[in-house]
Amino acid sequence: EQIEKGGYEHFMLKEIYEQPSVIRDTYRGRLLANKGIIQMAGIEDNLEKFLNAERIIIVACGTSWHAGLVAEYIFEEFARIPVEVEYASEFRYRNPIIGPKDVVIAISQSGETADTLAAIKLAKERGAFVFGVCNVVGSSISRETHAGAYTHAGPEIGVASTKAFTTQITILTLISLRLAKAKGTMSNSDFHRYLQELEIIPEKVQEALQTNDVAKVIAEIYKDAPNCLYLGRGYNFPVALEGALKLKEISYIHAEGYPAAEMKHGPIALIDEKMPVVVIAPKQGHYDKVVSNIQEIKSRSGKIIAIVTKGDTQVRDLADHVIEIPDTIEALTPLLTTIPLQLLSYHIAVFRDCNVDQPRNLAKSVTVE
Ligand code: G6P
Repeated sequence: EQIEKGGYEHFMLKEIYEQPSVIRDTYRGRLLANKGIIQMAGIEDNLEKFLNAERIIIVACGTSWHAGLVAEYIFEEFARIPVEVEYASEFRYRNPIIGPKDVVIAISQSGETADTLAAIKLAKERGAFVFGVCNVVGSSISRETHAGAYTHAGPEIGVASTKAFTTQITILTLISLRLAKAKGTMSNSDFHRYLQELEIIPEKVQEALQTNDVAKVIAEIYKDAPNCLYLGRGYNFPVALEGALKLKEISYIHAEGYPAAEMKHGPIALIDEKMPVVVIAPKQGHYDKVVSNIQEIKSRSGKIIAIVTKGDTQVRDLADHVIEIPDTIEALTPLLTTIPLQLLSYHIAVFRDCNVDQPRNLAKSVTVE
């Protein structure tokens, strides 16, 4: 097992550090930036289905559901296709309205999650075209779907998902860019800008991993907090949910993710000098609004841990701690903002002596209801 961990103390940490290379593996052969081409067999063979889709319904559970939420923002912005994101467990039991004009995308790292599998079967029965985004090759979901695209994250051993999440976002971004190109919903110059940026994103993820030391320092300060709030807007709202989930899963600290603007409708009542609030505040994406959310937290003495774009000064003046990530295009920020949140949870769990790779009561893949 020590050999498999490749010198890291835990699988989770190893998998966090693998992200630059597995993101590259996921787009290898699919993204030809210099030629301005994105190609994926599963999409090319079924392009008409996607182009004629009146709606995309994404079904997933857990972290994969969060990747689906990021994809909702991406698909709607890039390809102008309406998207709904559903918990597979809810979808399968509520007699959903779904038919041949719908494309269902099932996202699953393991490809074995019982609820997601059942949701796919239901969608197929009702005539929808079902596309899988799985990591495990030959898994039940990859076999049950009409077509699909694998993430190439390699085996994920840590129960808390890390590299599966970022590779899911990567493949879903590629798919939406391919559809945007086919539909003409994105300008050529934007399309090329995205391709170029995606090609260098692994280097930026690598740079984001350098936040490990500061994440560890912050983790030691807040390791005994009973609660923690995560806030983000737009593309980073799902990242806030995922950050909170990571903390809950491995450190057993109660954490909630919220869209930053919703804070005033409830969570703000919880804020006092004992409440750490992680705010995702990259310079693009409603920055000014997030800054005013940060001011509201500060005026209630909440402890602010902010994820900011390198060089930020405004949030730095307000926050108790800042973690800097490289600059990128707004839609790609989740690939970077996620990294310090994974590291923060990891170090908090280690400081609390938790079983990081196999947290209590959780399973890597949930094959029963
Ligand atoms: C379990 C795992 C999570 C995962 C979820 C969905 O809860 O512990 O890490 O996100 O299942 O799994 P899937 O394999 O379908 O992505």
